[in-house]
Amino acid sequence: MTRQGRHHHLSGAHRAHSVYRGRLVGLLVFPLALAVVAGGSRDGHAAAPKPDRAAADKAGPAKTDARPLDAKLATSGHAPYEMGECSVCHKTDDPKHPGPLQGPVRDLCAGCHEEMEATLANSRHPHKAAVDNCVACHNPHNAAAEHLLRGPMPGLCVGCHDKIGKAMAGAVKHAPVSEGKSCLSCHDPHASNVAKGLLAQPFDLCVSCHGKPDVKDPAGVTLTNFAALLEANPHHHGPIGDKDCSACHETHGGANFRLLSAPYPATFYEGWDEARYELCFTCHDVEAFTAEKTTTATAFRDGDRNLHFLHVNMEKRGRTCRACHEVHASPQPFQIRTSVPYGSKGWQLHLNFEERPNGGACSKTCHVTKSYDNGRK
Ligand code: HEC
Ligand code: HEC
Ligand code: HEC
Ligand code: HEC
Ligand code: HEC
Ligand code: HEC
Ligand code: HEC
Ligand code: HEC
Ligand code: HEC
Repeated sequence: MTRQGRHHHLSGAHRAHSVYRGRLVGLLVFPLALAVVAGGSRDGHAAAPKPDRAAADKAGPAKTDARPLDAKLATSGHAPYEMGECSVCHKTDDPKHPGPLQGPVRDLCAGCHEEMEATLANSRHPHKAAVDNCVACHNPHNAAAEHLLRGPMPGLCVGCHDKIGKAMAGAVKHAPVSEGKSCLSCHDPHASNVAKGLLAQPFDLCVSCHGKPDVKDPAGVTLTNFAALLEANPHHHGPIGDKDCSACHETHGGANFRLLSAPYPATFYEGWDEARYELCFTCHDVEAFTAEKTTTATAFRDGDRNLHFLHVNMEKRGRTCRACHEVHASPQPFQIRTSVPYGSKGWQLHLNFEERPNGGACSKTCHVTKSYDNGRK
């Protein structure tokens, strides 16, 4: 395929890809949202409010039941309530019968929290839940959780965001989503100038954690330092150039190896099956791997002998893409890597790839020097 032809194909595939992502989320059916919410102590109250599940999908203020909590159960308290000044918000100061509210909830809060009003008004992406109803998340009196929150993270959020709960229940987890500050590691609960309420541009968020040398996956494998990788390797893979990590990764959790948004083999060798490489083929043409002879489907060919087919399309020990390509960034063209970890001890197998005017060559690698001629000029 010509470079231009490939661009054509890619733009179509980008569309197909986002459709696919919607479908994938729909397929994850584990009801974690329920589990997380049930585990959360919603104000520790007998008539604890049910999160308004429909709210994330259907707009409209949530119905809440944010009544005062027994002082023994409270770890955070709201100054005006603690001072017994019920009438700041209610009709009277009688703690037994404070009466109805003075006005709409948001106006009551805005009366003292001007800075929050300003934030909501001046941000490009205010959170609909905060605009609609402060007491969806805060008990205006006191609460068992800090910051007057009506439940611990992440249950507080997942109660409305079912889809995120389902993603979190996937086989592959992403630690920051459920641990530590949880959702608040990446999202502002009230408002932000970045889409999706993010604290920073998504790429910068990813690299802020993955730009360190010591991040380890659950198996203890040290993950790539992306700040160093992207700096040292000038050939950034298309979507990386677009700063779009989410083109391939599910941030909140998912079904596939490495949180990938579609299947991709985890191993160096894998028997050929188009479905195992669905990730790559949402954007690239599968014909480069299915046509034994071709002069158009791929430039990795010697004459009409398709070397992608030869290496990858084998019943058992087909080489997976990683044998030759580094999907994030590489020191040389075509995302060709310098070396690849081989075996479980991390020994590096070198490729010694050399681009040539009419193709390329690999030497002292899986085989002695072999070159290919694709007629490129
Ligand atoms: C900062 C504002 C604020 C203050 C101060 C406040 N409340 Fe409230 N209160 C509210 C809001 C808002 C609601 C409605 C919450 C909801 O939507 O469920 C409420 C609801 C209640 C309810 C449940 C009533 C019902 O009909 O559901 C009780 C009981 C209550 N408050 C008691 C008190 C008492 C007693 C005090 C003073 C010691 C007090 N509140 C002080 C804001 C306040
Ligand atoms: C009469 C003034 C007043 C009103 C009205 C008021 N607040 Fe507050 N609020 C305060 C004060 C004072 C603090 C403590 C500020 C501090 O510690 O810096 C506070 C703190 C808070 C906090 C932080 C608690 C923490 O532990 O971090 C939250 C959340 C909050 N308010 C929510 C609300 C909501 C929701 C409403 C409307 C239902 C509301 N407030 C109405 C005065 C008010
Ligand atoms: C979607 C849930 C949610 C809603 C709705 C919400 N908050 Fe909050 N709020 C939070 C969380 C979570 C924190 C704790 C933030 C942190 O730890 O960084 C917080 C913290 C606060 C604080 C104390 C810390 C700060 O950021 O100043 C105030 C005050 C506050 N909220 C006021 C409000 C007001 C007023 C509204 C309505 C306009 C509101 N919140 C609506 C989730 C929410
Ligand atoms: C009471 C229900 C409710 C709660 C609780 C809630 N949200 Fe939301 N959230 C919504 C609604 C409604 C929207 C708007 C959805 C839409 O426009 O499609 C929204 C939108 C969002 C979006 C932006 C989606 C977009 O397309 O821009 C993010 C991110 C988000 N919420 C994160 C959170 C986090 C983090 C928390 C916990 C701190 C939380 N939400 C708690 C109801 C809720
Ligand atoms: C590691 C950072 C990170 C954490 C932690 C995180 N998110 Fe997100 N979230 C993102 C990014 C990036 C996006 C936008 C792109 C995407 O969907 O991957 C996003 C998008 C969203 C959206 C919009 C989804 C859509 O389909 O448009 C919601 C809702 C949301 N997050 C809620 C949550 C909730 C709830 C939590 C906690 C359980 C959470 N997020 C934790 C990074 C994060
Ligand atoms: C707050 C820090 C933080 C942020 C932000 C963050 N990550 Fe992570 N990520 C981690 C940690 C810690 C691990 C290792 C533990 C684990 O695998 O869950 C990890 C693991 C991963 C893994 C490997 C998962 C596995 O087990 O195989 C991928 C892929 C990943 N992150 C992608 C991303 C992407 C894409 C973003 C941006 C949307 C991002 N991360 C943002 C902290 C973060
Ligand atoms: C074109 C698809 C694609 C894009 C875009 C992408 N990744 Fe990946 N990522 C992969 C694949 C495929 C793997 C598995 C690589 C392997 O095992 O050979 C992976 C693995 C990872 C891992 C775990 C393995 C490791 O060495 O650390 C992390 C963390 C990660 N990616 C983070 C990111 C971040 C951060 C971004 C954005 C800067 C990003 N990815 C963009 C496809 C992609
Ligand atoms: C979200 C779309 C997307 C996904 C998914 C994707 N790629 Fe790409 N890939 C691109 C774009 C865009 C380019 C740049 C195309 C160009 O410059 O002609 C590219 C370029 C490449 C190149 C270099 C081509 C050249 O001529 O320099 C290789 C090799 C490659 N991708 C391999 C992979 C592999 C392996 C996977 C699966 C792990 C994959 N890609 C997944 C979009 C994607
Ligand atoms: C044995 C090494 C090897 C393996 C395995 C391999 N490739 Fe390649 N690939 C290459 C080489 C070398 C090129 C550069 C061809 C040229 O332009 O000279 C290339 C080029 C590409 C290109 C650019 C378009 C083209 O076909 O010329 C894409 C896209 C690509 N590979 C994707 C993949 C994917 C996806 C996989 C796994 C399914 C894969 N490759 C497996 C060596 C390999």
